[in-house]
Amino acid sequence: MYKEIKKICCIGAGYVGGPTMAVMAANNPDIKFTVVDINKQKINLWNSKDLDELPIYEPGLSELIKKNRGKNLFFSSDIESSIENADMIFISVNTPTKTKGFGAGFASDLKYVESSAKEVAKYSKGHTIVVEKSTLPVKTALTIKSILTAYQEKGEHKGKSFDILSNPEFLAEGTAIINLQNPDRVLIGGDNKNSIETLKGIYMNWVDECKILTTDLWSSELSKLISNAFLAQRISSINSISALCEATEANISNVSKAVGMDKRIGSEFLNAGPGFGGSCFKKDISNLIYICKHYGLEDVARYWENVILLNKWQQRRISKIIVDKLFGNLSDKRIAIFGFAFKSDTNDTRESPAINICRDLLDEGCFLSIYDPKVSSSQIKRELSLHENVRNSDQNNLLWEKNSNLYEAAKNSDALVVLTDWVEFKSADLKKIFNIMNYPSWIFDTRDIINPEEASSIGFNIWKLGNGFYS
Ligand code: UDX
Ligand code: UDX
Repeated sequence: MYKEIKKICCIGAGYVGGPTMAVMAANNPDIKFTVVDINKQKINLWNSKDLDELPIYEPGLSELIKKNRGKNLFFSSDIESSIENADMIFISVNTPTKTKGFGAGFASDLKYVESSAKEVAKYSKGHTIVVEKSTLPVKTALTIKSILTAYQEKGEHKGKSFDILSNPEFLAEGTAIINLQNPDRVLIGGDNKNSIETLKGIYMNWVDECKILTTDLWSSELSKLISNAFLAQRISSINSISALCEATEANISNVSKAVGMDKRIGSEFLNAGPGFGGSCFKKDISNLIYICKHYGLEDVARYWENVILLNKWQQRRISKIIVDKLFGNLSDKRIAIFGFAFKSDTNDTRESPAINICRDLLDEGCFLSIYDPKVSSSQIKRELSLHENVRNSDQNNLLWEKNSNLYEAAKNSDALVVLTDWVEFKSADLKKIFNIMNYPSWIFDTRDIINPEEASSIGFNIWKLGNGFYS
């Protein structure tokens, strides 16, 4: 028997929960979607009249919110009644890497998943389908199941029943709405065929059935981790070759193009850069490493460990090159940072390579003028302040400023460093920039944004990542 779904609740109004529910609601006008979050301020922002105030920036998101908010899409802090009324509940809370205890630095901290499962157990009524949306270590569904079953068995909670599905989200930030609207695949893992079909029915309102893959729970959970691990591995692979290109006068863009034209390899995700950032790659590979070690697969764990090590190395390597090119001395120098987000089209800075590179440069004694079209200065402050063993945050805040455009950032600087692939950097007026910078003026381009021939003809010294002719 299929369950008729009238109301859906999503716990967690973050980068995953918010856009996912917005797209689901747009495609399922007869279902009421309520997104809840323990962070009341975040819910207020999701409800703000001014759509520029939404807590996350994603192209196309504000249009969807404008269209559906208040109709069949709601953001609420009333967690209890939203759970109580829901036929289906998505768990989309964060699963950060543990910072202490067993598995610190590798294992996922499941405390938020656990507390969400407890809330579901407590407040839900009748039969509820619980869907894991967060990326979780394999077999987390078991944890959720055992919490729900424990409550179910308690006399006072009689009449409740649950099914658990894994439905990992593959969206990438910056393209979340496009990815959700037109996914490569939708993966649904579970034990109960009816529940799987029920969720599948919701997706079939806009996704072709042939793209919806159904599996067992464990395979679904593992597939998400492995997809992220493979993507991150590609970036570390191409970044390792960027260093080789610099040493041998080859050009990484040409190599990526040639390699990617092989259909078996494919052309996407082969852009060399300052290393991968974002909330998922490092966390998910760390998790994979932890799981491998747990099962005694030390060699497999070591293989994946190198993907993370290479990523750190790439960032450190870039910092070192900047220092070396500027005569080994950054004190009294002003460096313009173009881009602080971990990639373009998002305001997210989690694990952004800009954080480590900016900290390295600050440690060398320079002043940073930072421009990013979407990242707020409070966010930059938060990220750069987490370095208290070197400087306290008051000292730190005297060493950088956030500028409102790229020319303001470049003014009177000795070098500019491109760290995020924002498209507006491509059309920067290099002549204008050259005229307002100090001389000699350096450009360090880690994202293949600046035309090196043009820059050097204007008079810049230019270093381009992975380009042996400009290294
Ligand atoms: C996060 C993880 O990073 C990702 O791996 C996972 O797949 C989904 O969750 P994201 O949406 O980007 O992705 O996280 P975040 O933006 O931090 O949003 C999580 C939200 O859950 C936060 O707004 C937080 O306040 C909320 N939350 C957390 C709850 O509502 N209840 C809790 O108990 C804990
Ligand atoms: C990733 C996965 O792509 C997505 O499927 C999953 O659901 C969540 O994790 P996200 O982290 O949002 O998404 O962005 P992604 O586009 O994958 O970029 C991650 C990092 O890799 C960024 O720092 C980006 O700049 C970098 N990157 C990406 C490269 O350096 N080169 C590339 O070719 C692609």
